[in-house]
Amino acid sequence: MEVPEIKIYPDPVLREVAEEVKEIMDEEIQEIIDQMFLAMYKTPNGIGLAANQIGVKKRIVVFDFKREKDRKGDPFVIINPEIVWTDGKIIHEEACLSIPGFSAKVTRKKRVGIRGYDRNGKLIEREGDDIEAICFQHEVDHLNGILFIDHVSGLKKAIFKRKMRKLMREARRKAHA
Ligand code: NI
Repeated sequence: MEVPEIKIYPDPVLREVAEEVKEIMDEEIQEIIDQMFLAMYKTPNGIGLAANQIGVKKRIVVFDFKREKDRKGDPFVIINPEIVWTDGKIIHEEACLSIPGFSAKVTRKKRVGIRGYDRNGKLIEREGDDIEAICFQHEVDHLNGILFIDHVSGLKKAIFKRKMRKLMREARRKAHA
């Protein structure tokens, strides 16, 4: 199976709202889930990935909070995920596989409950604290076309925009060279 490329900002698919999955047992959906795991494990340290990040507008997120470099730990998928409760507040330096080379402090809920379906169509609910809670919120955001930079304010966002413009100029120069 081919490993899909991870879409990089400002790819417009990252701004689209993903659609609910109707038939979880569909072969196509099962294949998308496999491809998402492949794409995540190809990165050195990704612990979460949303389907939009491989260009698929479906409400699917995959996680592995126990992964080590180049190795699987405890992979799981949540289809049609919903954050069902939240508690507390945490500020953490966030990054995103789709926005390489940039990180910033984001305020999130410290604990969350997430509900959705596993790949067999069974209803599941999980709780996450700290980094797991942050990751759940970050990936569900992706499905709604929201990126962590949207939670960053003022000066830091201006720095981000300047950096992105510079990267895009360099990419254009390379493309013409
Ligand atoms: Ni991300």
